[in-house]
Amino acid sequence: MQDLLNDIAGKMKLATERGQVANYIPQLAHVDPQQFGIAVATPDGQVFTAGDAHEPFSIQSISKVFALTLALGKQGDSLWQYVGREPSGDPFNSIVQLEHESGKPRNPFINAGAIAVVDAIMMGHEPKEVLAELLNFVRFVANDDSLYFDHEVAASELEHKHRNASLAHFMKAFGRLHHEVDKVIGTYFHQCALAMSCVQLAQAGLFLVADGVNPVTGTRVVSAQRARRINSLMMMCGHYDGSGEFAFRVGLPGKSGVGGGILAIAPARASIAVWSPGLDKIGNSLLGTRALEMLVQETGWSVFGH
Ligand code: DON
Repeated sequence: MQDLLNDIAGKMKLATERGQVANYIPQLAHVDPQQFGIAVATPDGQVFTAGDAHEPFSIQSISKVFALTLALGKQGDSLWQYVGREPSGDPFNSIVQLEHESGKPRNPFINAGAIAVVDAIMMGHEPKEVLAELLNFVRFVANDDSLYFDHEVAASELEHKHRNASLAHFMKAFGRLHHEVDKVIGTYFHQCALAMSCVQLAQAGLFLVADGVNPVTGTRVVSAQRARRINSLMMMCGHYDGSGEFAFRVGLPGKSGVGGGILAIAPARASIAVWSPGLDKIGNSLLGTRALEMLVQETGWSVFGH
């Protein structure tokens, strides 16, 4: 495994076509596109790394996996009144489908769906309490108390909030948001501004590898059924309108973020985090996807067969 990761990281360092760093969140536009990291955490507690695997980056939409897990823990299946579980086939920040489907977002990973999930987590709580709970939860699943929100990234996104504010207002107009728009999106921006390294992210994904139990600490995070269902959502919706392409090329449940990270789950085998800030046209990490494709090719870890 170590040789394979070294080989992948070596190839990725040399790549000349690296995609475009997200620039609609100014703070992310400054990130050096030459970076590449990969970490593979296995259920027996080993972590293999290569490249910039210890460098914290903005996990952005990958945080939606943890927010969904927390929301399901609080609300159970009643969460599905507020958000669907079908792929959208639209870009992550699209408003189009909301109009056709009376303001109910297709799935928890598009922005509108993630905003609805935050609204559901907020029930009866102030944003500060919700953020503290979310941070504690991610620290718990990652087994790492050093994780933090990058407040500068959150503030930077807040200055350019109009697209997400529109989604939230549109849902509010359909009576689908329970809290004030500014409170919900402020909380959502902080959630997205979680900073994690590939190593921390791979460790945080381990409960999805091992039927809902963190195999390193032995603590149950969710039921086996729930872990399976979260993986299915990651497979179908985790890369937005690029989810089909990701399933085709990589064949693992995965969740991307505009910070250039991807968390991929190979059930019973490994939790994998990759990071390279340059994005493809859809907004998913260009080299991150390529690296995962190489890893799966060599390991035969695709859920669709060897
Ligand atoms: O709401 C946004 O636009 C960002 N905070 C997160 C979007 C994102 O990461 C999409 N992923 N590829």
